Amino acid sequence: MKMKIAIFEVQKWKQEFLKAELAGHEVEFFEEPLSEENVEKAKDAEAISVFIYSKVKKDIIEKLPKLKFIATQSTGFDHIDVEFCKEKGIGVANVPHYGENTVAEHTFALILALSRNVHKSYLRTNSGDFSIEGLKGFDLKDKTLGVIGTGKIGLHVIRMAKGFGMHVKAYDVQTDNFLSEVLHFEYASLDEVLSTSDIVSLHVPYNKNTHHLINKENIKKMKKGALLINTARGGAVDTDALFDALDEGHIGGAALDVLEGEELLLDEKQMLYYKEDNDKLRELVRNEQILKRDNVVFTPHIAFYSQEALERILNATAENLKGFSEGGTIYSVS
Ligand code: NAI
Repeated sequence: MKMKIAIFEVQKWKQEFLKAELAGHEVEFFEEPLSEENVEKAKDAEAISVFIYSKVKKDIIEKLPKLKFIATQSTGFDHIDVEFCKEKGIGVANVPHYGENTVAEHTFALILALSRNVHKSYLRTNSGDFSIEGLKGFDLKDKTLGVIGTGKIGLHVIRMAKGFGMHVKAYDVQTDNFLSEVLHFEYASLDEVLSTSDIVSLHVPYNKNTHHLINKENIKKMKKGALLINTARGGAVDTDALFDALDEGHIGGAALDVLEGEELLLDEKQMLYYKEDNDKLRELVRNEQILKRDNVVFTPHIAFYSQEALERILNATAENLKGFSEGGTIYSVS
């Protein structure tokens, strides 16, 4: 079945690839995210494809009367109102396997940046100061890594941690005793993982159960001086709680690839459209205060962003769109 497809958040080189893969369909490409401002451009689309900066919520979906299928170019799908899509009979598919090693490698880039003060050294030597005072790090060997969420990415992180000679404690709502035996890690309650780990790393999906999984109450249970790593989704951590824990010196540092309100950080100009939104302004100021700290490392949501991972994402997205139009296999999330 020939479809009208609108694909958002794709740069030129990706467009060439997808155009060839989706030959026979009527495909339109847009480099920007799908939003209230440009939804009109997709009004005839039967299928759309987006990345995470397109917030495909009820108000947008209602403006796409012909829509039957959404293929997100990501693993996480919390930017799409899947429940509403279900009600409307719109299928939603994601890219389930593309970046378990990619995101796990980035997790260790963040851990090592903090544990060996790579970020501080870079800034210091860049300004011509080669002194080493204050740059003493710590070994990962024999430290305990707490992994929250032992799915595809979390398990990869565990394998890598074992390569560094770390102990691993893990928390997940689903446990797999075979894997814990083979990979030599131990499952424990969330509180135990928080209170016994030197480094805690989050690898859960974002949904109503994981919203503020790390919060004002339980962040205090982390070991004094421990590090918090978040490459999952900003909303899994209550950022006010993180701010306080850093400010009070309870935790030793944080490395974040994601942060609640990261959209505003990436494009502060958006504040111009929220003229009377003091909450958003407060969020922006708080986030800037967090990121200014020298014990915080931030990367702008790039844990997935390697050449190899992007190629895998494009292949799976094309498979999803072709699968839907031909009645074949798709990576459905609902
Ligand atoms: P996955 O679905 O393989 O694993 C998630 C794990 O979390 C599962 O084992 C699940 O049982 C567990 N879990 C779910 N709810 C939980 C809860 N309430 N408490 C404890 N554990 C819970 O997902 P995968 O592929 O490992 O990805 C994890 C997340 O990483 C994605 O959902 C996405 O949000 C994020 N991600 C971030 C990227 C980035 O660029 N920063 C790139 C790719 C994924």
